[in-house]
Amino acid sequence: MDLVIDKLDDNLKLREFAARHQIPAVSDIGSSKLKYLVTERNEQFLFKDLRRKKSHFFSLDLKPMNVDKIFKSNFSKCFLSLDKNLQVFDSTAGLLNDSVHIANMGFQVTAVEKISWLYEVMQNELDLAKLGDSVLENINLQYGNSLELAEKMKPDVIYFDPVFDVKRKATAKQPMELLRSIASDKNPQDCIEQLLDCCSERLIYKRHKKQKSTFQKFITFSVIGKSVAFDVYQK
Ligand SMILES: C[S@@+](CC[C@H](N)C(=O)[O-])C[C@H]1O[C@@H](n2cnc3c(N)ncnc32)[C@H](O)[C@@H]1O
Repeated sequence: MDLVIDKLDDNLKLREFAARHQIPAVSDIGSSKLKYLVTERNEQFLFKDLRRKKSHFFSLDLKPMNVDKIFKSNFSKCFLSLDKNLQVFDSTAGLLNDSVHIANMGFQVTAVEKISWLYEVMQNELDLAKLGDSVLENINLQYGNSLELAEKMKPDVIYFDPVFDVKRKATAKQPMELLRSIASDKNPQDCIEQLLDCCSERLIYKRHKKQKSTFQKFITFSVIGKSVAFDVYQK
């Protein structure tokens, strides 16, 4: 099981959260089949990797960004020359790191997440972080399937960052490890074809450097980093 709560945890907010997302309450949290334990403290949901020996609880909070670093990054090169009035649609919200990055570049962002509990946790984190950072007001997080929502919204710019289907040697930070172990995004090619049809300006696809590009003849330019690459399809 991916996510569980401790049967002995009587926190009401946690119990209601677990009921809304069908997260089971278990008594044997030491079982080898379980992945993450979730609890709630001081208005924040916290997670613990049950497969690690010395693991501790961590949150999925939104970290403030260094604006200088943002404008020097490979990521921001994909947004160059785009009018700041264009609507950016983050089709793979996840932990919202990239949405925060895009909002810090001056765009309005609609971010969509298909995992219901992750959507609720990130909406909670966004609401908490908005109190200290007004840029985050420019992010509108929605729950659902972005392929369907993009079809309805027909956004200007679409950003697509599926979970990579590549075996990695290095381990990531705990929140990203959690995302990788609970989300499986198959067939990026099919999604790209669909998303390309929906956007009017640009599609930006983040992939692992080792993963092949798709629809190569439609790629306007690529930005290749140490392990991650971005393919930019300009309409
Ligand atoms: C690699 S993560 C994205 C990480 C994100 N860019 C960030 O900065 O944290 C991919 C996320 O997209 C979500 N996702 C994949 N396909 C989706 C779809 N069709 N609609 C909505 N969310 C989707 C997955 O559940 C997962 O949380």
